[in-house]
Amino acid sequence: MAIKFSRTFLLRKLHQITGIVPLGAFFFVHMFTNSKAMNGEAAFEKAVQEIHDIPFLLIIEIFGIFLPLLFHSIYGVIIASEGRSNALGYSYARNWFYFFQRATGIFLFAFILFHILNLRFGLIPGLNTTAVAGNADLSFNIIASEFQIPWVMVLYMLGIAATAWHLAYGFFLFAVDWGIVIGENAQRYTLYACIALAIGLFGLGANAAVSFVRPCGLFPQALCEHKSEAIKSTKPNESRRF
Ligand code: HEM
Repeated sequence: MAIKFSRTFLLRKLHQITGIVPLGAFFFVHMFTNSKAMNGEAAFEKAVQEIHDIPFLLIIEIFGIFLPLLFHSIYGVIIASEGRSNALGYSYARNWFYFFQRATGIFLFAFILFHILNLRFGLIPGLNTTAVAGNADLSFNIIASEFQIPWVMVLYMLGIAATAWHLAYGFFLFAVDWGIVIGENAQRYTLYACIALAIGLFGLGANAAVSFVRPCGLFPQALCEHKSEAIKSTKPNESRRF
């Protein structure tokens, strides 16, 4: 017997899948690359240059990041504006978690737009005007100059916290909705694991952000291979701050 799926059902499944692969995977890789700032300017800029050197990068970005992001964001805003209560119909706490899932989604729509215009393209009036795209050798200083502005740092911390929650709770909703965790206990422990994941992801991203204004981020400096002094003596044009 042929099984028929409604268009809404398929769009919702596609919405869930695009949130996990490729966007979830992208966030892990993105925070890992940003964490290289712990080891200073040269280490971070080498990592950015390696990404810029990937063949067919623009095609990978369009199909692997921008189109899934566009679909996930637009369909996410449609779901959030439908105003339906939690379809899974759970406890008081879980309804709050679901509310945060929608609220962080709407916030992230604006944050990611701001973030890409700000760093990738240098197009936010009043902030840095040099694009990281095509300027890997300036990337550390571009970001460091932005993160020295208190409201920008606070905004990025909120963006990282919102992404960490949205992704980790998204894993939970995915696991329940796809019937991967069924029993009440299994769901409770999966929820605890996802909350721990959200805290871990926030720590990873917050540490990466702090690394642009403090060597080795939130960790003792002795733990990092910080070569800033060596860089200063080998690069003549080191004083390019924005
Ligand atoms: C520590 C905080 C962060 C830093 C330092 C950072 C840095 C950057 C930089 C430099 C770029 C431009 C890359 C390039 O043109 O080569 C970029 C792009 C991007 N970032 Fe972030 N980011 C941070 C947090 C976030 C967060 C929380 C998200 C949310 C998901 C995010 C999502 C993106 C996306 C979607 C792009 C566009 C992808 C691309 O350019 O290929 N970033 N980020």
